[in-house]
Amino acid sequence: MMLDKLIIEFDKGLRTLLAPALSARPLPGRDLSEPELAAADKKHAAGLMRVNHVGEVCAQALYQGQALTARDPAAKEALEEAAREETEHLAWCESRIHALGGRKSLLNPVWYASSLALGMAAGALGDKWSLGFLAETERQVEAHLGGHLEALPADDAKSRAVVAQMQEDEARHAETAMAHGAQALPAPARMAMQLASKVMTKTAYWV
Ligand SMILES: [Fe+2]
Ligand SMILES: [Fe+2]
Repeated sequence: MMLDKLIIEFDKGLRTLLAPALSARPLPGRDLSEPELAAADKKHAAGLMRVNHVGEVCAQALYQGQALTARDPAAKEALEEAAREETEHLAWCESRIHALGGRKSLLNPVWYASSLALGMAAGALGDKWSLGFLAETERQVEAHLGGHLEALPADDAKSRAVVAQMQEDEARHAETAMAHGAQALPAPARMAMQLASKVMTKTAYWV
């Protein structure tokens, strides 16, 4: 029943926002030593990792919205598998934010709620559009993470290791969505998504 599902998702949402995320895979770069960064670099790196953390909060909500509406059991299972990796990304970003002396975005409940609504809306259009939306999201995140690999302070090898592993995972998530029959999105939709993520990343860097 839809109401039961919604209650379960609400509970997952609360956990995403409030409980520390857990990771099955070890933290990438855990053997590297914590760099001695200048105060400005540290603040910059923490801001970038906050942006990435927000991205992962959104990923959680998107995947949850889509798992709620997915019709094909194989697609549903693939979505859940990818969602588990997004939980790990969440934990990794969180650990970097703490190490860099930063804090998570104050707007996380807003990011979460809007992404859940988006995921459910995409899901309502049917599996192939829902997966198409997901594949496009993952591709855009992958490109964005590539930008962060350039923007992070050169000495912050620990954050870089996390971002590099996430980038690899997101590329795989896009491929999984394609393999399950994702439909390529029309250009205006892709551009709207790029615009929305620009607003999100610019805001989350500061708030
Ligand atoms: Fe992710
Ligand atoms: Fe992903």
